Amino acid sequence: MYLQKEIQESPNPTIATLDFDKLVEQIATCGTSARMGVTTSVLDELLTTAGRATIRSKVGAKATPASAEPVPLDSTEVAPENSVEVEMESAEALEGQESYVRPNGDLYYGRKWGESIDVEVLRKAREADQFVMLYGVPGTGKTAMVEAAFPEELYTIMGSGDTEVSDLVGGYVQTPSGGFDWVDGVLVRAASEGKVLLIDEIGLIDPKVLSVVYGLMDGRRELVVTANPERGTVKAKEGFYVVSATNPNVAGVRLSEALLSRFAVQVEMTTDWGLAKKLGVPQSAVVASQNLSKKVENGETSWSPQMRELLAFRDLAKLFGTKWAIQNLLASAPEIDRPVASDVFTRVFGEPILPAKI
Ligand SMILES: Nc1ncnc2c1ncn2[C@@H]1O[C@H](COP(=O)(O)OP(=O)(O)OP(=O)(O)O)[C@@H](O)[C@H]1O
Ligand SMILES: [Mg+2]
Repeated sequence: MYLQKEIQESPNPTIATLDFDKLVEQIATCGTSARMGVTTSVLDELLTTAGRATIRSKVGAKATPASAEPVPLDSTEVAPENSVEVEMESAEALEGQESYVRPNGDLYYGRKWGESIDVEVLRKAREADQFVMLYGVPGTGKTAMVEAAFPEELYTIMGSGDTEVSDLVGGYVQTPSGGFDWVDGVLVRAASEGKVLLIDEIGLIDPKVLSVVYGLMDGRRELVVTANPERGTVKAKEGFYVVSATNPNVAGVRLSEALLSRFAVQVEMTTDWGLAKKLGVPQSAVVASQNLSKKVENGETSWSPQMRELLAFRDLAKLFGTKWAIQNLLASAPEIDRPVASDVFTRVFGEPILPAKI
């Protein structure tokens, strides 16, 4: 038990000789730690914030916490067990974890998808012409995974309600001399070069616009460029492939039957909590996010931090301290979800957490 170890290693002899379980039991029976000569400030000095939360949650109802004191986690929540605020040595923690370089130079760490690694599944699916749709909340690694799988052969289009056929197929652009030149769109470039097209936020694109992609994905694998008869018919070169990503819960997303039926492989991307820890995200932040994720599943709230927020948390905590970073994280939650998030953060971090304000 790490808390016991921490206590035993403590230079304070009063605490060092105490058995951890006994300590907790005694605190619980006494109702107040002061009665046995162990003040909260002594405990606070000796233990990590998460450790304090564990003690307080073990003490339970018998202790009389002040109103600002954290409340123990309930039985459905992930307990901050062993949640020492120690950053792992990333290089050591990530040993043996397959990594792939993204076009921006960042590493993507492969995740298990069945018996294989996600990046390898994508590459194999491409070889077999099985199109993949990734769905999930923002910041879970959808784009990163596709970039890692096809770093040198990737075209990307960010879909929106305003995406037009010309964004995909191409259009005329004015030249300095006042004429017009035809410029291929990403779809035509990917098809004619045999490359991969990532259609990000595909669900936001008007289904009528999207239908222009389908001819290249199935059947004859070709597209007639009606806007430019000179461009004629574009044939999909060997290797042409489409991956799509979407967050189905965002307002304005439409996933038509025609669209869904083109993507034989559909998978939800979620945050890999274990990987987040290995990447040096403080355990307490991971635990809090896991708890919030459960609450999202139960319909109690709609926001939980994902990998993107957790990595930012890690970096900001290094710059400005853990409490600063957690208050900042809370401030980034949608206003309606802040009370639930504040409650979870308060319980996991062992002290009242309110959104950052200046
Ligand atoms: N397996 C991983 N290895 C390393 N970094 C990762 C991994 N998964 C996610 N990340 C990091 O998490 C962050 C968010 O990832 P990404 O932008 O791919 O999310 P997304 O699901 O595409 O989000 P959105 O829906 O907002 O587009 C990035 O900084 C990315 O590098
Ligand atoms: Mg993305």
